[in-house]
Amino acid sequence: MSQQLQHDVLVIGSGAAGLSLALNLPGHLRIAVLSKGDLANGSTFWAQGGVAAVLDDTDTVQSHVEDTLNAGGGLCHEDAVRFTVEHSRESIQWLIDQGVPFTRDEHASVDDGGFEFHLTREGGHSHRRIIHAADATGAAIFTTLLAQARQRPNIELLEQRVAVDLITERRLGLDGDRCLGAYVLNRNTGEVDTYGARFTVLATGGAAKVYLYTSNPDGACGDGIAMAWRAGCRVANLEFNQFHPTCLYHPQAKSFLITEALRGEGALLRLPNGERFMPRFDPREELAPRDIVARAIDHEMKRLGVDCVYLDISHKSEDFIKSHFPTVYERCLTFGIDITRQPIPVVPAAHYTCGGVMVDDCGHSDVPGLYAIGETSFTGLHGANRMASNSLLECFVYGRAAATDIETQLDQVSMPRALPCWDASQVTDSDEDVIIAHNWDELRRFMWDYVGIVRTNKRLQRAEHRVRLLLDEIDEFYSNYKVSRDLIELRNLAQVAELMIRSAMERKESRGLHYTLDYPEMLPEAKDTILTPTR
Ligand code: FUM
Repeated sequence: MSQQLQHDVLVIGSGAAGLSLALNLPGHLRIAVLSKGDLANGSTFWAQGGVAAVLDDTDTVQSHVEDTLNAGGGLCHEDAVRFTVEHSRESIQWLIDQGVPFTRDEHASVDDGGFEFHLTREGGHSHRRIIHAADATGAAIFTTLLAQARQRPNIELLEQRVAVDLITERRLGLDGDRCLGAYVLNRNTGEVDTYGARFTVLATGGAAKVYLYTSNPDGACGDGIAMAWRAGCRVANLEFNQFHPTCLYHPQAKSFLITEALRGEGALLRLPNGERFMPRFDPREELAPRDIVARAIDHEMKRLGVDCVYLDISHKSEDFIKSHFPTVYERCLTFGIDITRQPIPVVPAAHYTCGGVMVDDCGHSDVPGLYAIGETSFTGLHGANRMASNSLLECFVYGRAAATDIETQLDQVSMPRALPCWDASQVTDSDEDVIIAHNWDELRRFMWDYVGIVRTNKRLQRAEHRVRLLLDEIDEFYSNYKVSRDLIELRNLAQVAELMIRSAMERKESRGLHYTLDYPEMLPEAKDTILTPTR
């Protein structure tokens, strides 16, 4: 039997953004936080680097703002950048208050006004400003916030819940446009339950799983972006997909990131013959922004016909490497690579979705009652290329902003009345799951080949043609068969892929992460690519 549930706030996604929003809401609200799989399955848990913030007395808000604007290729919204950076210090203090065990700086002299935590550097940052917990910052943050959420009786943490679609007044044929909750597949019972909510928050992360090779965990399917689009929200700048320059290249090493902090601490990129190449591409060398480093690696790999390049930190002491990068050290060792002595084979892989659901500075979308925060959203912070470690910061700043906004509206919004149940009367069990598996593979391969680091008009047209065929096939499947996690994710991925391709086709220039051989120059005027759904 499917269930009808009611909450004040429904949070879809249990990573840094969702948990920080839930923890910032008043304790008397009934909150549900949904996770598609186990709670720790999202991207936050895997984040290695850290959180960028202005923490050291020698650093300034202006410098962090300027670095972000420079990395963003002229497309960042300066108001969003300033808003985020100005709230960086208080966000870090909040995390410290929650108990996040950031790495301390053993050389800091706190009595002399020094900062007690270690700050590292990453590409594009002109200062050391990345606070971190060794090289497993995401795990430290996630574990701490989860422990806090578990102590709050008003927060229900629900695993194995896959949101299928949002429920809006428009979808129900009512007057108005408000979001009233969501239909959610409970994987434990196989039923689609109806969640009514006064406020609904999408915190589902990005869509890097649309590509064959990605640093992201399996759930990064763009669910929130696709659901928001279907519910009538505008999306922006989805052509800007960030490829992380250094993921471990090894046949068994699925999705393993080699944190940029290695380059921040002096690691060098080398060709198979040991030669360095970054100085030929950018004066900032290994610490150039990610778009430049990833493109340089791609260029060298294609020029030489090699499968990977190498990242070398072996010139640092064994102690330094093991204490700063224990996760990377251990993980590489399981594949027979001792990073204290050997260079690490690396390749670029899809990492971060810079565009997303358009929101205001409280994380509110175009649909009343619906918020989007974290990687799902487009706040204007990242522009054409996200600067490393700004994204976790965005989760905390907008998580809190959205919570505050919800609090101000509590008096005006009541609980939706009983909502219609999910109608499964017209569908049967699928007897052809091979179609889902095949379409997943096909989609991710053509996105990698045709909508990757270097694009052309022809490649984009090919991708557009294929995604249209897939969408038709998936729609038919969705109308006839019971939903499963794989089908829901495939439907969302294909939808987001179509939006990415469309956005890429609209941009007739090369800027930041969008590089096309047909328009290699950057246009004088920087404009967002905004797509509006037909209603
Ligand atoms: O390289 C990294 O540790 C990743 C950081 C980020 O994507 O912000």
